[in-house]
Amino acid sequence: MFVMILYFSATGNTKYVAEMLAKKLGDESLDLIKRIRSNDHSVIRSQKPFVICTPIYVSYIPLFLEEFLRKQKFAGNRKVYFVFTSGGGHSGAAGAAAENIVRRKKMLYMGYVDVKMPNNYMALKFIPSPSDEKIIDMLKESRIQVFRAAHAVAREKRIRVRHITQAENAATKALAVFWKRFMQPSKDFHATDKCIGCGKCASVCPLNNIELRDGRPVWNASCAHCMACIGNCPVEAIEYGSKTQEKPKYNIKKYSGKNGAAIRAALELKSGFTSLRPVDNFYQSSLFFPMPVVLVSTLTDDGKTTCGPYSLIAPFYVAGKDYYAFMLVCRNSSNTAQNLIKNKKCVVNFLPDDSGIFRECVRLGWPGDTPEEKMKDFAFHLEEGHRKADDPRGTYPKVITEAVQAVECTWVDTLDGAQNDIPLEDGADHYELEKYHDFNGITSPYGAHFVLKIEKILMKPGYRDAIVNGVKGADFPPLPVDYGYRDSKNFWYHKHSKMIPELLPQRQTTVSSVRYAADRLQTDVRFTDEALGKIANVPRIFLPTVLKGCVKWAEENNVKVIDVKEMEIINDKRSKEKS
Ligand SMILES: Cc1cc2nc3c(=O)[nH]c(=O)nc-3n(C[C@H](O)[C@H](O)[C@H](O)COP(=O)(O)O)c2cc1C
Ligand code: SF4
Ligand code: SF4
Repeated sequence: MFVMILYFSATGNTKYVAEMLAKKLGDESLDLIKRIRSNDHSVIRSQKPFVICTPIYVSYIPLFLEEFLRKQKFAGNRKVYFVFTSGGGHSGAAGAAAENIVRRKKMLYMGYVDVKMPNNYMALKFIPSPSDEKIIDMLKESRIQVFRAAHAVAREKRIRVRHITQAENAATKALAVFWKRFMQPSKDFHATDKCIGCGKCASVCPLNNIELRDGRPVWNASCAHCMACIGNCPVEAIEYGSKTQEKPKYNIKKYSGKNGAAIRAALELKSGFTSLRPVDNFYQSSLFFPMPVVLVSTLTDDGKTTCGPYSLIAPFYVAGKDYYAFMLVCRNSSNTAQNLIKNKKCVVNFLPDDSGIFRECVRLGWPGDTPEEKMKDFAFHLEEGHRKADDPRGTYPKVITEAVQAVECTWVDTLDGAQNDIPLEDGADHYELEKYHDFNGITSPYGAHFVLKIEKILMKPGYRDAIVNGVKGADFPPLPVDYGYRDSKNFWYHKHSKMIPELLPQRQTTVSSVRYAADRLQTDVRFTDEALGKIANVPRIFLPTVLKGCVKWAEENNVKVIDVKEMEIINDKRSKEKS
């Protein structure tokens, strides 16, 4: 038997997850129920890693499944993942149980993913039945964890999981054993008069605990409380004492697939969102909006440097122009805006994540303080930038020594007629212009947008070297993220914790489709197949631009045929351009 995704499911949650995972991975899933019922442990083989999907019972793997898996024979791939479905609690020590099963087989334990699903434990009085809305939400959200599992399995990557001590594992297992012995009597199960004698309950019981006598089910003593019988009866004829009488009988079938279409449609009509009216400064007052935190240095009338904190700054011209630029959005009466209008130069300083540094940024942002008031107790050091080195007689705003990186910029006032903008008159707190510019300079009575041409990027050597030579997670500077939202008391920011790499999708086109794009270029420069193979991972939409870049280089260097060697020079040239 060749299969990769194996599952046990009593009321359908785990089956739903296993099938979704199989679909994502383009693989088969196998329901273990027949094997469990018949004690069939014959070999299951897979060339790909195994994924075992199971519900969580009392924070543990169902004891009967643990026993079954211990005896099960596997062949082919040695890696094993687990997917747990739990009812909103946590999977406790199930990870350690899974690891023990795998290690005993001398296979490789690859971790688990925990998928929160509707709680199916109908026989427990204190567990309320989830509402239809909650169930539909959980089914939607389960996709995220399934996606996570699929991502790891497809790449055969280990999933990081919480470490569970042997003591925690032993205690959880002891609870599961206690629960089975004392808390799961099956004598309370009974069929009501609605029973039609179909035998479904008997056929879904993993422990063969139900017999049909005179067309009616009878429960024996070996029960895992899995809820398969009560959840799969087609006429909802099964009750557990009086505990389930008021409860809907849970089975995912009511909510998934064709059966669940009506419930889903009814609920999906109701939006899961509520609305919030955008008001002034909507990014701070009506949104949580992640942004950078920078201090912008500008020059005052007497040539001194003053600094103001900003978050509304973003790359603006990023390609296709003969220069690159940021867009800075600010209040037009701010010191920064006024200084930019007068002498156009600024430095965008990125300071490292530190609560003291952030506190100083917040202090510098107090509206209405004069540059003298702000800079009197300035907590950082200032030094000349690289523009000053190129032009010793010029006056430029200084760079903050503590910055991780700093970008020396000039306002491009030739755009949008912004050269006609004038500083505010003394005492005025907003402009009374007849005409504001659309996007550059003074754009409204209160606002300004500055297109800032990037002149020099200054960076601390370690970070620069990382960008030139290839960045790893540990190479990123710790930069804070401003969350936008502020109230009358606090300004909030997010501390840098760690960088998480996410693999880019690897989509190779064929050499013939790259060749097709290359042949459409009007040029005498030729490409070899091997050279085109080197750019087969470039998204199709970017291919013409990349190919044109190669041709341009070839023409400048008198090259008639681009082979692998030339392609490597072209790629290398792009990396070197940064240094
Ligand atoms: C006997 C039993 C014990 C359970 N114990 C837990 C638990 O400890 N924590 C939890 O989050 N969910 C628990 N649940 C809920 C199930 O793990 C969850 O609903 C699961 O998705 C059911 O999967 P299935 O529909 O594939 O059978 C328990 C359910 C049963 C029947
Ligand atoms: S009798 Fe017990 S083990 Fe069998 S299906 Fe019902 S709840 Fe599950
Ligand atoms: S599944 Fe329901 S209807 Fe069918 S035999 Fe069992 S109790 Fe009766």
